[in-house]
Amino acid sequence: MDEAKVVACHRDPEPWRVLYRIFFRITRGERYLMEIESDPDVVEFRRMEKAVRRDIHKMHAFVRFRKTVGDGGDEYVAWFRPDHRIVHINAAFFVRRFGSMKWAILTPDESVYWDLRQLRFGPGVPRSEAPSEDELEGLWCTYYAATFNPARLNTAAMIKELPVRHWATLPEAALISGLVAESGTRVEHMEQVQSAAPFVPKTRSLAVLREAARHCEGCDLYRHATQTVFGEGPKDARLVLVGEQPGDREDIEGRPFVGPAGDVLNAALEAAGIHREDVYLTNAVKHFKFTERGKRRIHATPRGPEIAACRPWFEEELKVIRPRLVVCLGATAAQSVMGRAVRVQAERGQFLPHHLAKEAMVTVHPSFLLRMPDRALAAEERARFTADLRKAAERVAL
Ligand code: URA
Repeated sequence: MDEAKVVACHRDPEPWRVLYRIFFRITRGERYLMEIESDPDVVEFRRMEKAVRRDIHKMHAFVRFRKTVGDGGDEYVAWFRPDHRIVHINAAFFVRRFGSMKWAILTPDESVYWDLRQLRFGPGVPRSEAPSEDELEGLWCTYYAATFNPARLNTAAMIKELPVRHWATLPEAALISGLVAESGTRVEHMEQVQSAAPFVPKTRSLAVLREAARHCEGCDLYRHATQTVFGEGPKDARLVLVGEQPGDREDIEGRPFVGPAGDVLNAALEAAGIHREDVYLTNAVKHFKFTERGKRRIHATPRGPEIAACRPWFEEELKVIRPRLVVCLGATAAQSVMGRAVRVQAERGQFLPHHLAKEAMVTVHPSFLLRMPDRALAAEERARFTADLRKAAERVAL
């Protein structure tokens, strides 16, 4: 029923036909209809649900209140143009978030008002009747410019997430082209200042390095991660394996490759006849980078400046170990180890000269194998991965 309420907000006349058909079929015996994702009615239902949910999310993100002074003191008014009829379904969110202020959200179809005690709904209001400026606008723009992160600039994603048709009601929209234009120069500056180097002690001891890395603040990733996950393995390892960054499990346990990707790696090592204790395992980036989705922490790929910032730790590990061969698991590891962008499939399996080990070799990341839905293909890729590891072991006579 909750999903149906969302679908009912869709602007097309179609939701009522689809909802009617679905209710009819469920009440006439197809109790599990909604579990058949390929059913045309269910497909249509999901399409509309997705569109409305996206619109709901956009309204949460893009409503901008402007301060007005009414008879009863300050009031905040926003004008917004949603794609669907979501004012009712969304009102409770704004009460929860802005319950302590009097506000109104005006849209072309209908409007909603909160007077600190109850919600009222009224007719639509044209944009021309909404206030256009207030003193908070300047503050908001300053805040937006200060928190705009040029290192994370992705213009395509930005246009997708911040659709141009909402720009007219977003005061910060006027700043965007300027911020985008100067982002290149700002990133260069950030890359200069973000580095683990000041935290790396002069030592030939892995234990001392590990202890120092616990306190690294060389880039911002330490802020949200539980702990630094340093490399582990023998100081005289002939073979070093480098991953991308710790995952959720590694972040909690403080050890590399102990989660699902670690299981794939362990199995491949065993199949290749390599004892995990004989190799040194580490990551290009030593803190877990993630985004939160509900209670889940979802892996986020580290960016160039974070990989570069963490590189001093990896270089020190190599200077202490001086391995015969470094195997890079995936593109991030390869980028860090080789100091350049690497196309994994193009350079896979080759022995490349390296200044801190005798050689380096690139192969895929075990997570790549985890994500393969086709079982036959996955089995083939696991075998190729194992073969790469075996080749590495033979090269160093493990
Ligand atoms: N993936 C990695 O690259 N490293 C880990 O330690 C775990 C998962």
